[in-house]
Amino acid sequence: MRDQIVNSRFFKQACYIDGRWIKSNEDWIDVDNPANGDIIGRVPKFSAVQTSQAISAAAQALPAWRATSAAERSALLRCWAELMLQHADALAALMTLEQGKPLVEAKAEIVYAASYFTWFAEEAKRAYGETIPAVKPGQHIVTIKQGVGVCAAITPWNFPTSMITRKAGAALAAGCTIIVKPASATPFSALALAVLAEEAGIPSGVFNVITGNASAIAATFTASAVVTKISFTGSTKIGSQLMANAAQHIQKISLELGGNAPFIVFDDASIDKAVAGAMAAKFRNTGQTCVCVNRFLVQRAVEPEFRKKLAIAMAELILGDGFDEGVNQSALINRAAVEKVNDHINDAVAQGGQLILGGVSCPQQGGNYIEPTLIANGHSAMSVCCEETFGPLAVIIPFDKESEAIAMANDTPLGLAAYFYSDNIHRCWRVAEQLEAGMVGINESIISNASAPFGGVKSSGLGREGSKYGLDEYMEVKYLCFGS
Ligand code: SIN
Repeated sequence: MRDQIVNSRFFKQACYIDGRWIKSNEDWIDVDNPANGDIIGRVPKFSAVQTSQAISAAAQALPAWRATSAAERSALLRCWAELMLQHADALAALMTLEQGKPLVEAKAEIVYAASYFTWFAEEAKRAYGETIPAVKPGQHIVTIKQGVGVCAAITPWNFPTSMITRKAGAALAAGCTIIVKPASATPFSALALAVLAEEAGIPSGVFNVITGNASAIAATFTASAVVTKISFTGSTKIGSQLMANAAQHIQKISLELGGNAPFIVFDDASIDKAVAGAMAAKFRNTGQTCVCVNRFLVQRAVEPEFRKKLAIAMAELILGDGFDEGVNQSALINRAAVEKVNDHINDAVAQGGQLILGGVSCPQQGGNYIEPTLIANGHSAMSVCCEETFGPLAVIIPFDKESEAIAMANDTPLGLAAYFYSDNIHRCWRVAEQLEAGMVGINESIISNASAPFGGVKSSGLGREGSKYGLDEYMEVKYLCFGS
């Protein structure tokens, strides 16, 4: 399988700048397979010089791109999406090889990623302005929306393709050009996307991909007066640094940062539905999503039933190489990720947590494996309740009163996603309104899709991606005042 992937035309060990494939003369970054540690290839370790070239290319391409009609941009985005779907199997295999996620999930991500292009292909046509009643006779006040200009995106390894299309789809639809810096752990999916951009006919310089030294590339983006917008998905720590640096040129910034999602199960919920939802919201991408559940808060009367049923469902998870049939839990991205989950398990057990299932890392398999783990008797002083685990660890914390659950859920500086299960409609509204999160799943655990606004409150970020709001992040409102 590896040979087939690395010999395909989608496997590029070069950056895509100004419509050209550029290799490094000096430094490279090795990329490995998290399932076994094998090096699968390398990409250029570019720095400030090449980033400045990419910025210039994006700036040069801007006037012609922003002059295209919305219908033309829409058609190109749609074509790009169709190519992704046509080659979904090859793109998914490449993603599994570098990211580790089970092939079924990788394929689902390609479909999800393409949906952002088709969504924004439509939204491009709906970037409406307004007419506003004038204040003087004969005067006319109107607004138009225009793309912000040259954009930069810094994207994560957990969703190597969809986090790019969510940003680039909106940027291109708005008439902006973009430079993407993918995570060094998963650059090949980004470069494969560039292969298809070329085939779809996206003009040179409109979509660029640069790999390399993350801090040098980010510093070049924020030091540039040409880059007008930066969009970042990643940690709160890096997001905060980027925001500070973006202040130099008052760059617009969108930040999709960490989460610490609570999942509340009330005693009036259907426990079977809550367990099914818990499995999906906790174990998608082996727990490595910003919206994955970090803390299960379960009302005491139903806690034994929920715990028992969750343990049964978790025992059926199959851990292994993402290419193997039936596997639904895969290697984590690197050893540090395994160590973090281990630390959270050890800390929870040391603080009185009861280990129900798992708790073992499996380095003997050669990859970054850790068993899905369930801990009961959790409490809010445990590290797992204060920090994002980003792995397959589920901790159950019992509670008595609704107000107690809400207080615990909100007791974090982060506010990305929250979930709860209840069959009481009054409680559903009441709790949904009180949870401090940008996204709330109510008897629903898969909340991400192109038509919905993705984003957080508090230290989880700024701005929204996807939906009609996602386009606005890449547009300015210009007010025109016509005198009499
Ligand atoms: C993320 O983990 O950042 C995003 C996942 C999603 O789109 O659901």
